[in-house]
Amino acid sequence: MSALNGNAQVAVIGAGAMGAGIAQVAAQAGHPVCLYDNRPGAAALAVQGIDRQLGRLVEKGKLDATARQAISARLRPVEALEALADAQLVIEAIVENLQVKQALLQQLEALCSDSCILASNTSSLSITSLAAGLRRPERVIGMHFFNPAPLMALVEVVSGLATAPALAATLYDTATAWGKQPVHARSTPGFIVNRVARPFYAESLRLYQEGAADCASLDALMRDAGGFRMGAFELTDLIGHDVNYTVTCSVFDAFYGDFRFQPSLVQKELVDAGRLGRKSGQGFYDYSEGALRPQPAEVQSAARVECCVVEGSLGVMQPLLQRIQASGIQVTERPGKGLLRVGDATLALSDGRLASQRAREDGLRNLVLVDLALDYSKAERIAISTCPDTTREAREHAVALLRQAGLKVCLVADLPALVVLRTVTTLANEAADAVLQGVGSAADIDLAMRAGVNYPRGPLAWAEQIGIGYTLRVLDNLQRCYGETRYRPSLLLRRVHAQGGRLHD
Ligand code: NAI
Repeated sequence: MSALNGNAQVAVIGAGAMGAGIAQVAAQAGHPVCLYDNRPGAAALAVQGIDRQLGRLVEKGKLDATARQAISARLRPVEALEALADAQLVIEAIVENLQVKQALLQQLEALCSDSCILASNTSSLSITSLAAGLRRPERVIGMHFFNPAPLMALVEVVSGLATAPALAATLYDTATAWGKQPVHARSTPGFIVNRVARPFYAESLRLYQEGAADCASLDALMRDAGGFRMGAFELTDLIGHDVNYTVTCSVFDAFYGDFRFQPSLVQKELVDAGRLGRKSGQGFYDYSEGALRPQPAEVQSAARVECCVVEGSLGVMQPLLQRIQASGIQVTERPGKGLLRVGDATLALSDGRLASQRAREDGLRNLVLVDLALDYSKAERIAISTCPDTTREAREHAVALLRQAGLKVCLVADLPALVVLRTVTTLANEAADAVLQGVGSAADIDLAMRAGVNYPRGPLAWAEQIGIGYTLRVLDNLQRCYGETRYRPSLLLRRVHAQGGRLHD
């Protein structure tokens, strides 16, 4: 264990939302902590704020009063940078500006001992650039906390080109000792989370822009079928569209305009209009007093189903069968290509083709495509799409089957890979590319997405569950449908599929 000594002096610079949270985390872990901000009085105010937060924990019974006193006593606001001279670890959380952060690091290099670790909480700047020009760039590292730092478990330990590997190990162990869940990341645009999460927003925004469904339905599908805590519209309303759009633009620019990270015109329009989300009272949803929250659309059916036929294995959708059987519907199984027949309808898990395209290419009549669910045995809602020539009766039978099995059904437009399947495969694709490019290990990337943004399953583990071959097929079909490089499958997925291996080693 190479963690920083538990009594080592820590300094935090910048007493805003992040700096205050990080100072609290370090003090709770037992370190004496100096907090500095160049706004006079800001550090002292932040320390008072932390003490109040600790007071709330005491009220809730999560902390005892003596511990609160001890933690607060370890926090010292200072009014001059010189007071940080004896720190062994400095974490800066000042304004997100390369020149300002570089100038601060230069001052710190002149002030602190040669063994002092200089860490940055930057969420988007290159650690390599921050360290450039310093006498000892090997001691500069990213320590990227998530907001609010005392609550969010994830810390990305980000190494720049010159960062000493032993230093990354020390900060990893230190973050662990602080009760955090660290992951190693290489300094590349967006690090792990802010890069891999882009498709989560981008695909919902695109589906909305292309008229797949309304925001409330798409959000509900991401929650009730995908198992995500929130859908993209409610989440970006919460984050703030200005913030979320800026991150997307910065990742897009940093990758020289790679279409995979293309920002959304729909979101830009909200930013242009000042509809920034909850904080401005209006985003995709209206937060004004008395405003009604729109409800997700749900298709009903007048039909009643007694039996259905399953042809071959339904793959990841197989657990749906138990649900169907448990609802009293008689299921007959026979060999075939993974189709579910009910009345005149043929149901199939989407493979990334349009319903109309697949019906024609595979000679299927009355096709109803079904979306991915995190767990078909528990999902509350599912998306379907149909072809223009799917008859009303066939659709009614398909909807009745799913509803009798306990699922709310949302009919979306005929778009490739529906909603959850499209999101999960593109997230996995981005995660795979990040592994391929050495940004992080498969295990760390999956962990980062679970601990940093609460995904119900790591995107790579999810791709393995769907099947790497199936994931590739969906991406290939998406790419064919749109004719865009945005969906080009990562070489890693192709390689792992060709070699018959696994993404997690
Ligand atoms: P903030 O605006 O709440 O706080 C920044 C603080 O730094 C202010 O109190 C300001 O007075 C102080 N400051 C600015 N320049 C300074 C200087 N030269 N010397 C000393 N103090 C200075 O900002 P926030 O949100 O706390 O972000 C800080 C850093 O953390 C940024 O690099 C940001 O990208 C990063 N970050 C932010 C997250 C968030 O959700 N807000 C999440 C993860 C990282």
